[in-house]
Amino acid sequence: MTNLPPTTTPATSTRYIGVPTSRVDGRVKVTGTAKYAAEYNMPGLVHGFVITSAIARGRIRRIDARDALAVEGVLDVITHENRPRLPRANDKYSDDVAPPGVPYRPLYDDKVRWSGQPVALVVAEDLETARYAASFVQVEYEREEHVTDVEAERANAYVPPEERGDMGPAEDAGDAAAAFAEAEIKVEAEYRTPIEHHNPMETFATTAVWEGDGQITVFDKTQGVQNSQQYVANIFGYASDRVHVMAPYVGGAFGLGLRPQYQLVLAVMAARMLKRSVRVALTRQQMFTLSYRPATIQRLALGARQDGTLTSWRHDTVAITSRYEDYQDNVVNWSRQLYACPASALDYRLVKLDLATPCDMRAPGGATGLYAIECAMDELAYAAGIDPLELRLKNYSDKDQSEDKPYTSKELRACYRQGAEKFGWSRRSRAPRSMREGHELVGWGMATGIWEALQMKAGAKVALGLNGDLEIASAFADIGPGTYTMATQIAAEILGIPIYNVTTRLSDSTFPQAPVEGGSWTTASLGSAVQQACEGIRRELLRLAQVMDRSPLADCGLDDVAFADGHIRAKDDPSRAVAIADAMRAGSAERITQEATAEPSEDESHAKFTHSAIFAEVRVDEELGAIRVTRVVNAVAAGRIINPKTAGSQIMGAVVGGIGMALHEETLVDHALGRPMNHNFAEYHVPVNADVHVIDVIFVAEKDDLINPLGVKGVGEIGIVGTAAAIANAVFHATGKRVRDLPITIDKVMAA
Ligand code: MOS
Repeated sequence: MTNLPPTTTPATSTRYIGVPTSRVDGRVKVTGTAKYAAEYNMPGLVHGFVITSAIARGRIRRIDARDALAVEGVLDVITHENRPRLPRANDKYSDDVAPPGVPYRPLYDDKVRWSGQPVALVVAEDLETARYAASFVQVEYEREEHVTDVEAERANAYVPPEERGDMGPAEDAGDAAAAFAEAEIKVEAEYRTPIEHHNPMETFATTAVWEGDGQITVFDKTQGVQNSQQYVANIFGYASDRVHVMAPYVGGAFGLGLRPQYQLVLAVMAARMLKRSVRVALTRQQMFTLSYRPATIQRLALGARQDGTLTSWRHDTVAITSRYEDYQDNVVNWSRQLYACPASALDYRLVKLDLATPCDMRAPGGATGLYAIECAMDELAYAAGIDPLELRLKNYSDKDQSEDKPYTSKELRACYRQGAEKFGWSRRSRAPRSMREGHELVGWGMATGIWEALQMKAGAKVALGLNGDLEIASAFADIGPGTYTMATQIAAEILGIPIYNVTTRLSDSTFPQAPVEGGSWTTASLGSAVQQACEGIRRELLRLAQVMDRSPLADCGLDDVAFADGHIRAKDDPSRAVAIADAMRAGSAERITQEATAEPSEDESHAKFTHSAIFAEVRVDEELGAIRVTRVVNAVAAGRIINPKTAGSQIMGAVVGGIGMALHEETLVDHALGRPMNHNFAEYHVPVNADVHVIDVIFVAEKDDLINPLGVKGVGEIGIVGTAAAIANAVFHATGKRVRDLPITIDKVMAA
């Protein structure tokens, strides 16, 4: 059961921003008419099946495809030996989201970098034949020693020579070691998070449509069609505008679709070799050797005075990456934004393993970092003998200490207050094992969440027709959060037209420029572009209304009129009005088109973050050790909420991800083989309905005039940040056992 605001569909009103609104793409999705990358059919389409490496490190000595090629219906077996010419330069294989390093090149050479790397593509008239024939391909390897165990390499951890973006640790403040030595209370602990896989429902796939030489059309599973477009153009030497990439619907991604994945290259490569349209779809098992959330080992050392006031903070992280790229995310910086502390030392190192490069997974760095930070704060609360919530309030930071900046807004205190009230936190008895019901120990835990409020440069085109229909177009993707609906609502409200007259088209590389959909930045970025374009249309409409004969709005400025119910009305006298259609007709304007590119504010004087407070209840069977998360309250401050329904679903879904992180999700690598062994949904556990009980989402009112004109911050990731910590803290409260490595499974709870 989940509690969300009810959906209301306003009948006559044209107020849409802030109104819970069902997805405009809901019908095509639930009726199965929304098409995904592997669902586009065309005459002559053939199918590729990927063969992946059986070793984790070494080289391919020989590939014998003769038996496979003899199977009727097989068209080719593509390997590094018979592939078409590919460019040599590394930058040709880079992309918008690539970390520092040497990007992987599918089927480029004989080198094997991880177990599960593609080594050949069997192409046949149908998928079954391709898969069958793949079983006859003989690959001989020259095996080298591999290492996939972070413990084995921990001593070789290094500071990344090149920082990815701005993700390096904040500079030291004060003398953390000296302050720690003198601290009245000390908490030192090491926390571990495992490799996790994104596991979107839709597996990765590309359908490459053969358009003749020099041109290609691609349906790709991606979070950024223009990122895929540029990548294909660079690798295969197309002019950018000859590569057309579309991904109108994406069945979840969680970050795995931020970078182009190898099936894109393989599909286009095969299409070019065979001059046929080719589809390459990965199996669920192959999804486990694409990319993943990197495992971390995090050491926290917190020093405080007897009353819980922080005096020293140290956070050291070791995270894993591949041999060939230095993937990085921000695990350690968050304490400088959350907790006032005069002395701080943060360290972030990588360990190279023979695995594929990790990639961003929902709240990359934040989800793992806040797990450790917020568990350590819970441990400090117990060490100081004060309430965990009180400890947060005592050390609350009203500025971002890493840059000594105030926040554009930070309603975290209200999150704590409203979340605690809804949860009933004041009724908690502090001692571990002090609450029980029947055979179950009851535990209440809490944690804080924080995420960046980002905005990226993005464009949108909006066109209003004489019949009142409005069309929006942008290259932004909608990977599921409700992007179509959000853009539709903003335009309908600004222009005062019914929501059902608006059609939003997304995720087509020919549409106005957009970055990948990620980083929780879509609403701020695309929403602002739609807003600007619609404001341009308002200006044009008012101009047309004013040149009409005896215009009732002749003396009005834009601020003097309201756009509602298909009319432009004087605010001080609503009877003075012009129908939008009349204004257009009078000006012979069959269509008004505006394109806008919105850019983030250049004002860097304030720190920009979303915040949350999470309260969790667990029930632990005392004899069986089984843990149920029976209640979660997540109170979020994320500026203005455009659509409380889809935004609420974002938080709810992220909380479910947090439950998985706390209790279920863990990719187990067989270090002898160097590959994930639980590469299926039977053995890689994600929460199912029986694991999810009450989730209450609260959006705390947060007015932010500095962040952007819409006042929005974004909610895609904040919901998972801190959730695993709240659950882990609840497990401690229930059982008195502090499990410091995720997931918290029965065996760990039962261990003496
Ligand atoms: Mo998100 S991990 O930026 O898709």
